[in-house]
Amino acid sequence: MCGIVGYIGKKEKKEIILNGLKELEYRGYDSSGMAVMEKENDNIEYFKAVGKIKNLKEKTKDFTSNGQGIAIGHTRWATHGKPTEINAHPHYGEYSFVIHNGIIENYKEIKEDLEKKGVKFLSQTDTEVIVYLFENILKTETNPFKAFEKTVEKLIGSFAILLITKANEDKIFFAKNAVPLIVATNENNEILFSSSDAPIIGMANDAMYLDDGTYGEAEFGKVRFFKNGKEIHPPRKALPKDRNFAQKEGFRFFMEKEIYEQSDVATETLMGRIKNDQIHLDEIDLNMFDGINNIILCACGTSYHAALTASYLFERVAKTRTKVEIASEFRYKDPVLDKDSLFIAISQSGETADTLEALKIAKNNGLKTLAICNVDNSSIVRLANNVLLTRAGIEKGVASTKAFTTQVLTLWMVVLYLAHIKKTLSENELKNEVKSILKVPKILKVPDGLQDKIHRLSKHYLHGHGFFFIGRDVFFPLALEGALKLKEISYLHAEGYASGEMKHGPIALVDERLFTIALLPQNILYDKTRSNVEEIVARDGFVFAISPKEFDLSDDFIKTSDQKHYMCEFFEMLVILQLFALEISIRLGNDVDMPRNLAKSVTVE
Ligand code: G6P
Repeated sequence: MCGIVGYIGKKEKKEIILNGLKELEYRGYDSSGMAVMEKENDNIEYFKAVGKIKNLKEKTKDFTSNGQGIAIGHTRWATHGKPTEINAHPHYGEYSFVIHNGIIENYKEIKEDLEKKGVKFLSQTDTEVIVYLFENILKTETNPFKAFEKTVEKLIGSFAILLITKANEDKIFFAKNAVPLIVATNENNEILFSSSDAPIIGMANDAMYLDDGTYGEAEFGKVRFFKNGKEIHPPRKALPKDRNFAQKEGFRFFMEKEIYEQSDVATETLMGRIKNDQIHLDEIDLNMFDGINNIILCACGTSYHAALTASYLFERVAKTRTKVEIASEFRYKDPVLDKDSLFIAISQSGETADTLEALKIAKNNGLKTLAICNVDNSSIVRLANNVLLTRAGIEKGVASTKAFTTQVLTLWMVVLYLAHIKKTLSENELKNEVKSILKVPKILKVPDGLQDKIHRLSKHYLHGHGFFFIGRDVFFPLALEGALKLKEISYLHAEGYASGEMKHGPIALVDERLFTIALLPQNILYDKTRSNVEEIVARDGFVFAISPKEFDLSDDFIKTSDQKHYMCEFFEMLVILQLFALEISIRLGNDVDMPRNLAKSVTVE
């Protein structure tokens, strides 16, 4: 997730871009850059810096831009290529500059084609192809805007693009698909572009939130929008007055926003990694799995729950022996490590001290390593031999939501990749798995009325003497995650338990003041789990059942949809558990985004 801003007008452009990027820093900040072109001087000045916006500010301190002109700026959250200055935006060709948020899925094909025509690429990004493709088309198409239109037609994937070119000095060309782009105009004839409304609040009263497939051209005092070759007039919407509110994109809390974002980030996680019913993980060595007979998954906190979930899939689907380790335990247990094990470290931040140390131990013992991580260039990413970025974008809520979702999705892809190599699935079975994984973004969309329903029933759970979240198979780690979410932000005592284990002790706690959250998927062990829940009902426990099948015995019930794969049920139930924790925390008046005693990134032992 990156942030982009653009400006056409007479004010000092550098300041507008820097202020705008500062507002978008929450979308990612591993590097940033800007390009500015003034009307009387058709030179394009550009600047790039690694790290936060303050570094770009420092780089541009001696630069001013007066008079009418155009400017574009970008803050980056790396998905293709390391966060270096070369990979920072804007990317440039011979006389044009581009900034981009999203992923160009077919960039490899475009790149190969352009390389054959003699183009030399500087960066490792997918973005750079846009600017060279544009300049290449402009060799035969004399109208720059038409060339831009043809460029956009060739792009597959998600993008918000701003492009400026000396071939048309007054204009910004723009295009939008699957990621946000907002355009605003004001009475001073200024034109403003942004990924979210925060940067333009105070500079315009309303804005146009573009639909997918919209592109166009803007110059001082004038913007034209097109879709499928026809001019359109997007509706205007009033801008919010409060910046802080705008950063949360209308949500009250970052955690809430991040729950709602899961569908979009899941699309990014999958993008470019699934083609023709197969998983393509181009980022990892082709021979990573050569000689591997065992997998060790290692992590902390929520990432540990992603590891536990994946362990079921590695064994069932890829028929590979898998162990899961809590990083802080692994460090000191003098583990026996064999070279035929692949060590997979899972971490949102890439900085968790215990996971980092565990990874070092694995590496020092000569194991192949893979990091599943959300933050490029983090310590864990730098250390591991292979890396898969989860592409969740910056996660602000301390209680992890979208990072977990993207970790599980990424691990599921690794499982299918391995299953393909080891031929543990028939072609048809693999096709079905891929079909199911592609459904996940849609499943993660919070349905209308769900949060309201959870809000209403959450009032039943403010007292009592504790919670048991129960499930079987992958729904056991999901139960653990549901319990962790709740305790992190509600400070109520909650445990996740394997349904079948309740009878071996915890059932002694059951009475009408003990809450059981029962996960009852239809595609895996329904009858067995149901029997376990009935044992709790029989002892007068308070039961909240989540299932696609009606369950009359429960006190509260949420009916999930009729999915064909248990992992699809997993993701649907995950959203319910996240919202459940959120609603209880809100009712209790807690600080949802910054719960007491916790930290987002734990860099100490
Ligand atoms: C902290 C966070 C948790 C997170 C855990 C592991 O405890 O509060 O939300 O799951 O660290 O973090 P990592 O960045 O390694 O996934």
